[in-house]
Amino acid sequence: MLPRLGPGRLLLAAGIAALVVALGWVGWMWKQSLLPGTYDLMSFAEPDYGGGAEPAAGEDHHGGGASVAEIRGPSGPPDVRFRLVAQRATLRLSSGREVQALTFNGRSPGPELRVTQGDLVEVTLGNRDVEPGVTIHWHGVDVPNAEDGVAGVTQDAVLPGGSFTYRFRVHQVGTFWYHSHESGSRQVARGLFGALVIEPAARAGGLDRTAVLHVFDGAATLNGKDGVHKQEVAAGTPVRLRLVNTDNNRRRFLLSGTPFRVVAIDGTDLMGPSELTRTALELAAGGRYDVAFTMPPGPVALRVADTPAVLALSPDGASVAPAEAPDRTFDALTYGTPARTPFSARSVFQRRFRLEIGREPGFLDGRPGMQWTLNGGIYPRVPMLMVARGDLVELEIVNSSPRVHPMHLHGHHALVLSRDGQPSTGSPWWTDTLDIGRDERYVLAFRADNPGVWMEHCHNLRHAAAGLSMHVAYMGVTTPFRAGGDAQNHPE
Ligand code: C2O
Ligand code: CU
Repeated sequence: MLPRLGPGRLLLAAGIAALVVALGWVGWMWKQSLLPGTYDLMSFAEPDYGGGAEPAAGEDHHGGGASVAEIRGPSGPPDVRFRLVAQRATLRLSSGREVQALTFNGRSPGPELRVTQGDLVEVTLGNRDVEPGVTIHWHGVDVPNAEDGVAGVTQDAVLPGGSFTYRFRVHQVGTFWYHSHESGSRQVARGLFGALVIEPAARAGGLDRTAVLHVFDGAATLNGKDGVHKQEVAAGTPVRLRLVNTDNNRRRFLLSGTPFRVVAIDGTDLMGPSELTRTALELAAGGRYDVAFTMPPGPVALRVADTPAVLALSPDGASVAPAEAPDRTFDALTYGTPARTPFSARSVFQRRFRLEIGREPGFLDGRPGMQWTLNGGIYPRVPMLMVARGDLVELEIVNSSPRVHPMHLHGHHALVLSRDGQPSTGSPWWTDTLDIGRDERYVLAFRADNPGVWMEHCHNLRHAAAGLSMHVAYMGVTTPFRAGGDAQNHPE
C-alpha cells in the first residue's frame, strides 16, 4: 500500500515544506519592514555614490561630520519678519460650504508672503493646537538645510504651544509656496500652506496675482474660493498670474480671452517665451507656472479644468470670458529660446544616478499591499544619493509605475537635459517639481552646492506617505533628528 501512496505523500510533504518556506519568507519580509518607534531615516537607506568618490575605508558614509542642525541661515537684523501660527479653524468657502481646516493665522491659503530678492527673511512659526506638530517647508526656495522645515530630518516638529524661527536670505526671484512638512499628506490637504512670492528689487507694474489651487474635501478652490471670483482690471494693464498647484494631482489650467506667455516655471524665468493661445497648462502637483499677458478690452478667465473654480478678470469687473477648447498642451521641453547654462549634457559629471520608480507587492511598515519602489527597494530601504559639495550631478529618473509622479528635490534646482532621449531645446528649464508620467524618462543635472540632508520625494503627498520618498545627502553631514511615532516627527 505504501509504495502506491508514496508519490502523493511525497508531493504533499514537499508542498507543505514549500508553504512553510514561503510563509517563513513572507514573515521575514513583514518583520523586516517594521519601523521602530524612532529611527534615523538615513540608517536604513542604501548609499549610492553614483560612480563618484566614496568615503575612505574605515569611515562610514556620514564621515562623522557636521550636523544639519548647524547649517542655519544668517544672523543679524532681518529685512522682513512674519509670524505664522498654525491653528485649527472652520473655513467657509465662497459657496457656503464649511471645511474643518488646519490654517496659518486662521486662513487657508495662509497669508501670502511677499518679499524682495536679497531680503533676510525671518518667520516665526507658532503652533496653537495642531496635533501632533507642525513645521514649515519653503517649497522651491534653496534655503540652508536647517531652515528647510522637514520634521525628523532638519528639525523636530513644533508641538502645540511651541515655536521655531526660520531665517534665510532669498537669492532667487519667483513664485514659491510654503507648507507643513510634518504629517504632510494630511496637513497640506487640510490647509497648512500659503504662497511665497520673491519679487525683484525693481518690481514690474501692473497686476501681479497668485492663483493658488487647492482641493478641500473634494472642492477645487482658487485662492480659497470654490466658484467664480471676479476682479476688475483695466484694459492695457500688464498682468502676471502666478499659478501654484498645492493639490496631489497634476491639474489642467485653461486661460481664455487672451493670448499669453508662460514666463516662469518653478520660480525661474524662461527665455524668449512665445505667445500661446488655446494651450492647456498642465501643472505638476507642487509646481508653479507664471503666465503673463496684457489685459485686453474684453474679459479673461483662468479656469481649473473640470471644476467650477474660475478667476475672472475683466475691465467691467463683471463679465466672464467663455471657455475655449484647447487644441494642445504646453510643453516646456521645446518652449522659448535656448540660452547659456552653467552646465549641460556635455559637461563632466562627478556623479551619475539612475532612479527607477516601480510598483511591487510587499510590506510597508508591516502593511501588505502594492508598494512604491525606488530601484526595487521599499521605504525606508531606498537608495540615498550621496554627493560631495561642488559635484556636478546627473540624475536620470525612469517611471516604470502606472501613475504620474511629481518628483520634488529640496534645496536645489535641476536643469532638465532630456525627456525620453529627446534633448531640451527651448529655454533652459530649471525645475524643483517635475511631473514624470508613466514610462517617461527624464535626465536632469544639478550642482551640489547646498550641503545638508535633503528630501527627494513625490509631491503626490499620498504617494510620499506611502513610501515614495528618499534623500540626497552630502557626505560628512548627519542629522541628529529622528523620525517615527515616538519621536513625534513624521515628515510625510
Ligand atoms: Cu513641497 Cu518635501 O515638499
Ligand atoms: Cu507619486
